[in-house]
Amino acid sequence: MAKKKGNTSNKKENSQGITKKSHPLKPLITIGFLTLGVGFYFVIKAIYTLYIMPIDDDKSGWPLYQKYCASCHGLSAEGQDIRQPKGGTYPDGSFIAPALNGLGNSWLSSDEQLFIKIKKGSTIPNSPMMGFEEQLTDEGIYLVIGFFKSKWPALTRQIHENRFPNIQKE
Ligand code: HEC
Repeated sequence: MAKKKGNTSNKKENSQGITKKSHPLKPLITIGFLTLGVGFYFVIKAIYTLYIMPIDDDKSGWPLYQKYCASCHGLSAEGQDIRQPKGGTYPDGSFIAPALNGLGNSWLSSDEQLFIKIKKGSTIPNSPMMGFEEQLTDEGIYLVIGFFKSKWPALTRQIHENRFPNIQKE
């Protein structure tokens, strides 16, 4: 009887003797998944480039930033508390230094407004954000601003430049 004779079957067998059933739409499905995969990659890449990837082209203000600002605003300008990038206060009333990396509100201010805040200090009563007039020259302040702005994603940077076209550029 030819009943259990696998070799006589018209199905394909691979080297391990495993029977392969080939679905007629298999090539189409494969191409579909590949296309989806490639599309997905480009969408993620675009989102990353626009919204996440920092421009990071300016390290000249880093030494000053590290010396005077990092203790409160974080080494990568991520803010004092990453759960609250926009800053605010804790229940005990103490201040949270906001992120300066584009996730906080710093990009809503022009370079000049940022400059004045850093030079003269915050106008918010009891804020620990003091003025750095004594420690930093005007140029030093712009270097520091350049440093944390280099952390902003491209889209944030573009919006800022469109909104405040008179910004100081190197
Ligand atoms: C002792 C902690 C402390 C230090 C040091 C400090 N800051 Fe701040 N900074 C704060 C706090 C808290 C706030 C939020 C409250 C406010 O605006 O008054 C703030 C606010 C700011 C803002 C406004 C941000 C926004 O979202 O509008 C800027 C810009 C800023 N700081 C820049 C700097 C720079 C640049 C340095 C270093 C030269 C620095 N800070 C050093 C605590 C600090």
